[in-house]
Amino acid sequence: MAKDTLTITDNRTGKTYELPIEHDTIRAADLRQIKVNSDDFGMMTYDPGYMNTAACKSAITYIDGDRGILEYRGYPIDQLAEKASFLETAYLILHGELPDRGQLDEWTYQITHHTMLNENAKKFMDGFRYDAHPMGMFVSTVAALSTFYPESKSVFDANVRRKQIFRLIAKVPTVAAFAYRHITGMPFAYPDNDLSYTANFLNMLFKRTELKYQANPILERAMDILFILHADHEQNCSTSSMRMVGSAQTDPYCSLAAAAAALYGPLHGGANEAVLKMLNEIGSKANIPALIKRAKAGEVRLMGFGHRVYKNYDPRARIVKKTAEEVFEVTGRNELIDIAIELERIALEDDYFIKRKLYPNVDFYSGIIYQAMGFPVEMFPVLFAIPRTAGWLAQWQEMLVDKDQKIGRPRQIYLGPTTRDFVPMEQRSLVVAKAER
Ligand code: CMC
Repeated sequence: MAKDTLTITDNRTGKTYELPIEHDTIRAADLRQIKVNSDDFGMMTYDPGYMNTAACKSAITYIDGDRGILEYRGYPIDQLAEKASFLETAYLILHGELPDRGQLDEWTYQITHHTMLNENAKKFMDGFRYDAHPMGMFVSTVAALSTFYPESKSVFDANVRRKQIFRLIAKVPTVAAFAYRHITGMPFAYPDNDLSYTANFLNMLFKRTELKYQANPILERAMDILFILHADHEQNCSTSSMRMVGSAQTDPYCSLAAAAAALYGPLHGGANEAVLKMLNEIGSKANIPALIKRAKAGEVRLMGFGHRVYKNYDPRARIVKKTAEEVFEVTGRNELIDIAIELERIALEDDYFIKRKLYPNVDFYSGIIYQAMGFPVEMFPVLFAIPRTAGWLAQWQEMLVDKDQKIGRPRQIYLGPTTRDFVPMEQRSLVVAKAER
């Protein structure tokens, strides 16, 4: 009869172990009973990059990478992108259900009324160098916010958490916009509570001398869609960082700064910046085959291609590509899209990419939209961090209330020297010479 167990035979000892299987998973700690002798530490798994290790149970985001499916709390991403707003989606991600009208109004009110930054934080941001990378400013300012809200340390108090969730979702666009104004030499523009989440963000970014900023509704909606697409993506590098730092019971501002720092990397949220640089370097369609050749030779990577989880077209990339065309109606066509479409076409017909299941990911087209909207490339990862704040907070909260979770602490396979006595300075050159012989 079929049983939900796994039988392992250790050929070193001939012993057999039966481990329970739950959700197609065995508990790594169950392997520790597998020992050669009683002094033995016990069996571990070796999994650099966590390629096949579930570090948590989660009910937030579902991805089927082989079929190209992404769902938040069970709702397909394309339905949310078409029918929901970003704040509605953020509510869903954090609370598990779509809000009713009253809940959405209250949620929107709270987020709208926490958008201001303390004036001291503004001064602090003003102190960055004129050409500081906005992601560096974002990471440090979000961490610095913890100094204004010391109560945020009480991470097990649900009311305290709720307040910080309002604050963080509300303030990250302000921090991002101030970083943008700083590098562009513009005075900071304050939030406008009459505007939607994304319209207010555009206001803080682009307002000049007009008394009231009017967001273009197509750009406002495009930004909202991009925010929905980026709101969560289960246990990626930055989310895992949020959970890891949060597992030490660090406050949410510093935990979120750590997550944003992870997002900054070119293999993660920095990829859209790298895509734009790559497309600019390609310059014209005629140069695409040469780049493909270099990618196949392992000299470069096609940025915006490939994904640890998606072995199919990233469903977000499809929506971003469509949104790009809508944005171009307002901004004019970004020529880079034609290079991107041709690069995608050539790559998807090439055996190297087919065999490795390398498809465009969300970053492949998003940078092209951002550039058309007037953002410098340095702002791209910041634009990713704003909506991902909702996902990071949902994952952080889920981790805190999960009884299974403990402080994150992976193991290692130690391959360094065995115990040896300290060598005094005057004898060290002899030791080195001996080792080199
Ligand atoms: N261009 C060319 N070859 C690639 C690429 C690429 N973009 N991505 C993977 N490969 C090759 C890689 O060389 C390897 O080939 P081989 O088996 O011959 O050694 C094979 O495909 C598997 O690659 P991997 O590095 O083992 O795959 P991974 O799951 O560790 O990496 C990735 C995933 C996203 C880091 C990688 O595909 C990559 O570097 N892509 C470019 C950067 C990028 O677009 N990142 C954005 C990710 S999506 C947004 C986000 O989540 O932040």
